[in-house]
Amino acid sequence: MLLPTLAKGVTVRRPGVMAAAEKLQSDGTAIDTMRSLRDRYGPEPVRLRITGRSVAVLVDPADVGRLLAGSPEPFALATREKKAALKHFQPHGVLVSEGLSRERRREINERALRPENAPVEAIVRDEADLLTRHVMSTGELTWDSFNQAWWRVVRRIVLGDHARADDQLTDDLKALRQNANWAFLHPRQRGLQARFQRRLDRHLDRREGLAAQPGDLSGQVPHWLFAFDAAGVVTIRALAIGARGTRGVLESARLWPTTPVILRESTEPTRWHGTWLPAGTSFVVFTPFFHRDPDRLPYADRYAPEIWDRPRDPAIVPFSGGPGVCPGRDLVLATGAAMLDALSEHLTFPKLTAPLPKTLNHFGLRMPTDPAGTRVS
Ligand code: HEM
Repeated sequence: MLLPTLAKGVTVRRPGVMAAAEKLQSDGTAIDTMRSLRDRYGPEPVRLRITGRSVAVLVDPADVGRLLAGSPEPFALATREKKAALKHFQPHGVLVSEGLSRERRREINERALRPENAPVEAIVRDEADLLTRHVMSTGELTWDSFNQAWWRVVRRIVLGDHARADDQLTDDLKALRQNANWAFLHPRQRGLQARFQRRLDRHLDRREGLAAQPGDLSGQVPHWLFAFDAAGVVTIRALAIGARGTRGVLESARLWPTTPVILRESTEPTRWHGTWLPAGTSFVVFTPFFHRDPDRLPYADRYAPEIWDRPRDPAIVPFSGGPGVCPGRDLVLATGAAMLDALSEHLTFPKLTAPLPKTLNHFGLRMPTDPAGTRVS
């Protein structure tokens, strides 16, 4: 269950492994493994012994709700694994912070990451127009062309228009994230990290885009740029299923969660279904299982935007939940929905239909525009 997730790359996906995972539909196998664990052991967390550590895999949706509601105490977000991976490019990020500095950094993020703090729609429309023209001339939308437009959008929203063309900045971040995939195993490249941070700080000094918001943002923005990658992946997958609006973006993230493993580490002993688990236990929430479980969810494998209009199962958490919920959620939904709207204005694409695949390799998406449906402005 966990090995294919690690192999795909935790902080940046590896295209070759993603293609193989799609061929094997590895998420389907992992979901089936989780179903058989639950059937065999019941609703209690399943305990694994990995190198002498206490690891508990949750199988009960109510337990997921409890874990996330209880963060950061007694269930810390800053786990050993996250600290090891994220030190490569965001050693001061809120996700790996604790205590008072966590509180302060969380507040800075919440205040800065509001969609109304940047002209999101105007920026998206601008870049989507260029992309639409490109797609009309080539006859198809590919991940590469989408991704290029997406990063221009992201740099303009986060750092302002002057950063639009700074591919070097996001390429350096990608290299650092590739190291982060190896977490403990990769030496920290301090030279590259320093170069990236210097370049970023020069942009931040201009205080444009979200970077105009108050607070010391220098340690937080690397996470924003990193996390906007997932937002692009979610948006192109939404396009591939004909999704629209913020519920469409949420559905794409439910069907193919970009944070497939949510981790917490307990700071004290905690009791689960009558069993005590020691302090320092790592709790694993494997979200593809909870989001696509055919035993519980009649809509598991179809596009079901209506589920976001009513209270849901507590384990459907593409943006996490509780006090550690993704503070960028509304910004992602606004940016993704604006992109879907702008691209659907002049282009139509064939849609993937139910049952939707359990693994969808976004790198391999090639979406021909439907000549009959393509309207030229
Ligand atoms: C599809 C896009 C995204 C998804 C699915 C997503 C999902 C998540 C999830 C699941 C977490 C919790 C991680 C954990 O508990 O270990 C998280 C945390 C976070 N996200 Fe996002 N995220 C997305 C995009 C963004 C963007 C674009 C930003 C900023 C611009 C952002 C900022 C953050 C921050 C700062 C945290 C740490 C929160 C904390 O430690 O309290 N995210 N996100």
